[in-house]
Amino acid sequence: MEEKYRIKKEKFMVRMGVVGTGFHIGIAKMHISAYLRMPNVSVVALYDVDKEKAEKYKTEFDLKDTEICDSYEQLLSLVDAVTICTPNAFHVELAFRALEQGKHVLCEKPLGTSAGECDKLVEKAEKSNLVCGVGLCYRFIPGYQLMKKIIEEGALGEIYYLRAEMGGNRIADPSVELEWRMREELSGAGSIADFGSHLLDLSDIMLSADRGKITEIQAIANTFITQRKDEITKEEKKVSNEDVGMILAKTEKGTLISLSTSRVGSKHTMEIVGAGGFLEFDGSHPEQLTVMLKDKNGGYSQPPEVIKVPLEMYQVDAYGPKQGFEVNFYLQNKAFVEAITGQKMMVAPIRRGQYIQSLIDAAKLSAQTGQKIRMEEIV
Ligand SMILES: NC(=O)c1ccc[n+]([C@@H]2O[C@H](COP(=O)([O-])OP(=O)(O)OC[C@H]3O[C@@H](n4cnc5c(N)ncnc54)[C@H](O)[C@@H]3O)[C@@H](O)[C@H]2O)c1
Repeated sequence: MEEKYRIKKEKFMVRMGVVGTGFHIGIAKMHISAYLRMPNVSVVALYDVDKEKAEKYKTEFDLKDTEICDSYEQLLSLVDAVTICTPNAFHVELAFRALEQGKHVLCEKPLGTSAGECDKLVEKAEKSNLVCGVGLCYRFIPGYQLMKKIIEEGALGEIYYLRAEMGGNRIADPSVELEWRMREELSGAGSIADFGSHLLDLSDIMLSADRGKITEIQAIANTFITQRKDEITKEEKKVSNEDVGMILAKTEKGTLISLSTSRVGSKHTMEIVGAGGFLEFDGSHPEQLTVMLKDKNGGYSQPPEVIKVPLEMYQVDAYGPKQGFEVNFYLQNKAFVEAITGQKMMVAPIRRGQYIQSLIDAAKLSAQTGQKIRMEEIV
């Protein structure tokens, strides 16, 4: 067992269950690592439809007292809260069943495969006194928190546009076999759901307070690796959702948004340009932002400046990681636990998950029909 997990646990514990332990990305690992660091959380149960995967986690994390469950019902009977890390198509049902049993929920993004499917879940969550959140963890990246602060302070003035790209390289290799995220019935949209969920959440966080909500969306998409070997049968099968999606959007006050999502190779960047200057986040240097502000005559006379993200934005405590991708998961999951123990709700609420899903739906519909989608027509 790694030294970092040997922390003294408190008497009052949130008993946490994790569902869908994983093997493609296996994002459950980030959640489990975060919980193991927290003195007031105990990972008491794991459940995966493939029990061997859950058993593997028990060994890997040295989870001596964790129950490997035979069913989701068994897991629910043992916990106060669940973290759902299954393929997208199972999120809504698993979250709903947890709420029915009086358990708090943190569900991975995207919330489902369509916004309509989330209606009953949102209603159930909001009528309960349980914490029910969606894992839009990129909003916890300290560099993005700094970007938001600079915008709120008014340094950029009227924001003209936001341009961002995000994606992954893991499945750019055509020999990677067909997994759930390449099948529309299990994932919904492809890269637009996978990476677009984070980018649409971040765009709204950066812009909506001053520039309003997204009112219209246009998108194009394509699948470049059209066939892959099925991971079970080894037969060639069709990839049924997009590898790449490009989304254009406009907010109420006319700010333009351009987002690229790709699972066949991508950088991770965000640039925001306004009347007062511009800001740039580069995912390969998340510890800094590039800032270029205009001079008092309204022109650019100085070179861009690189500023460090201040340490306080990492909200470092005695237990959390100090850097890397783990930071945003730790901050997110800590916020979830704090909401359960009665502190303020910082994790994205379930209605937010549904709103982001409606933007994903609009982008998907636009890419399929070639039409511009006005949000008021579909929400
Ligand atoms: N926040 C992020 O940045 C981020 C990153 C990666 C993945 N994700 C999300 O996390 C989720 C999981 O993605 P992943 O790549 O880790 O998946 P994965 O394929 O690695 O793991 C999914 C696991 O769920 C299990 N499973 C499937 N159906 C189940 C069911 N009904 N009940 C219990 N277990 C079930 C599978 O056996 C598998 O072990 C997805 O919703 C994905 O969008 C989020």
